[in-house]
Amino acid sequence: MKKLIAGNWKMNGSLASNEALLKAVQAGLGAAVCEVAVCVPAVYLAQVQGLLAAHALLGSGSQVSLGAQDVSAQEQGAFTGEMSAAMLREFGVRYALVGHSERRQYCGETDAGVAAKAKAALAQGITPIVCVGESLTEREAGLTADVVKRQLAAVVHECGHCITEIVVAYEPVWAIGTGKTATPEQAQEVHALLRAQLHAATTHERRVKILYGGSMNAANAAQLLAQPDIDGGLIGGASLKAQDFLTIIAAAH
Ligand code: PGA
Repeated sequence: MKKLIAGNWKMNGSLASNEALLKAVQAGLGAAVCEVAVCVPAVYLAQVQGLLAAHALLGSGSQVSLGAQDVSAQEQGAFTGEMSAAMLREFGVRYALVGHSERRQYCGETDAGVAAKAKAALAQGITPIVCVGESLTEREAGLTADVVKRQLAAVVHECGHCITEIVVAYEPVWAIGTGKTATPEQAQEVHALLRAQLHAATTHERRVKILYGGSMNAANAAQLLAQPDIDGGLIGGASLKAQDFLTIIAAAH
């Protein structure tokens, strides 16, 4: 299975800096052996779609897939500020983050709400990247397994046999943007738990990519990506620097 390296730009960028970043990534990409995606702020989806299409016409090197950072669980209607999966689809969106810890924390997203978003994305052929992860307090209280299993269980319940179509991202909250990365062993331990949980729901659990996220960078990516159950990375800060993002991509073979 090819690994997936997905950049999460969060609320960063501008028309000018997005273009410069993307061009630098594309120029250095060559024939990448893994899949590459960028999850961009919603207002820039059209811009990035255009830049990706222009690059595809040149036909040189690997392609980058487009991702959104959120999706509504609703199909349409009176939901001010929301974006449906069908709308994202119109802009060539291939992946959508759902349940990122920042949205769980700042926007009150619940396990059930996140699961409904994953289902809505799948219904439009968009692959949800379902984020799970424990806080520092939860880890210190020995609750890591309980928390991530509860978060994933809601999605397994909602998505049924389509669970093989999702991507999972394990992102320990204490490692996000803090420079504190989970050790490869800590990450692998949780990834193995998640894989076992998927196995209970499907015999095709190996088809589900489980990404690690949380201060993954050019220096630590290779070791993390070498773990048997780490199938890629969800990269925040380091995805905003072309050279660092490219080094991580190169480590994902
Ligand atoms: P980080 O963010 O790489 O900056 O820690 C990862 C994420 O939140 O997806």
